[in-house]
Amino acid sequence: MKRGHQGSPSGPPQSRFKPNPEGDGEFLEDESTKIYARDVADHYSARTNQTLEEREASPIIHLKKLNNWIKSVLIQLYARPGNAVLDLACGKGGDLIKWDKARIGYYVGIDIAEGSIEDCRTRYNGDADQNQRRKKFKFPARLLCGDCFEVRLDRELADDGPFDLCSCQFALHYSWSTEARARRALANISALLRPGGILIGTMPDANVIVKKFREAEGLEFGNSVYWIRFDEDSADKKFKASSPFGIRYKFHLEDAVDCPEWVVPFHVFKSLAEEYDFELVFAKNNHQFVEEYLKKPEFGDLMRRLGALGDTHDKSTLTPDEWEVAYLYLAFVLRKRGQPDPTQKWSMKKGDNDTPIKKEDIMYITS
Ligand SMILES: C[S@@+](CC[C@H](N)C(=O)[O-])C[C@H]1O[C@@H](n2cnc3c(N)ncnc32)[C@H](O)[C@@H]1O
Repeated sequence: MKRGHQGSPSGPPQSRFKPNPEGDGEFLEDESTKIYARDVADHYSARTNQTLEEREASPIIHLKKLNNWIKSVLIQLYARPGNAVLDLACGKGGDLIKWDKARIGYYVGIDIAEGSIEDCRTRYNGDADQNQRRKKFKFPARLLCGDCFEVRLDRELADDGPFDLCSCQFALHYSWSTEARARRALANISALLRPGGILIGTMPDANVIVKKFREAEGLEFGNSVYWIRFDEDSADKKFKASSPFGIRYKFHLEDAVDCPEWVVPFHVFKSLAEEYDFELVFAKNNHQFVEEYLKKPEFGDLMRRLGALGDTHDKSTLTPDEWEVAYLYLAFVLRKRGQPDPTQKWSMKKGDNDTPIKKEDIMYITS
């Protein structure tokens, strides 16, 4: 897919925002930033765990399966047995089974939504109704509740790192409300990853979103399963290259999302990440990602098992409207510069996973 057009947030690679290598101290947050972060947290907290039947009845069930396939492929490509994994914005722990299959050695999950972390805890413990078939995960885990884009996670997790792999799925765009938060997100990940460590993720593709917005008549566009509505202050549909943060829209996805989100111009994300010692391995729109990895036999088999595009028994597949939603996202991989220290072996500090995570084990962090 062709990236970039002059003057758009997804525009040319030359970003003109002022870099701030000194850190984020000078970018003070105002109250509205905190209110929006709370809105996002409350929205996700309020979403209850679905039963298998409810899930299968979802109008976007095939999209959910497709997203799970994309995350599984990323995990299979980059997770290695024994890896220490940091799952930023882990949600309800929807990827725990994927991590178990990858035979990771240690897992730390963090999310701002209290309800989601509680669901993640019960899922990990094997108590959740819909996980009856899987009672126990093989890796030890720790769960935290807090704003990953505001707090200093390197301080909170000083004894847990360094991590081999960080995953931030469908969430990094919530850091893009201000430059300070975007920087905090990247600084946290960079500080906790070992040299050569990998960040895998998925987030909205600003190129696609801005293009669709410009093609739309007014401030809103969408289809039967989603809509996106930009704020009035974006009405001229021009975005200054000098202010690539805080471009807000409201995103509604049936049976999944209904909260404020922020445009992440990918070239700005890439250059900001470089300031925090990351190099881009790849970024692909999810359509391109599916096209490329579906050709690989092991991932084709996985797709058939998940049934996103139909399987031998059930021929139902993504609707065109669900496929359009897939196009709104991209998958990316970044590598932290440097070589791993071969003498530094991560040790199982937390013991094994015989002990379930108790409510009081969840650490709540505030700034
Ligand atoms: C679309 S969900 C994805 C959850 C999970 N990563 C997955 O793929 O299943 C987005 C998640 O980001 C979390 N989130 C949003 N802002 C956050 C923040 N500032 N700090 C931590 N988590 C955040 C939400 O609570 C929610 O669980």
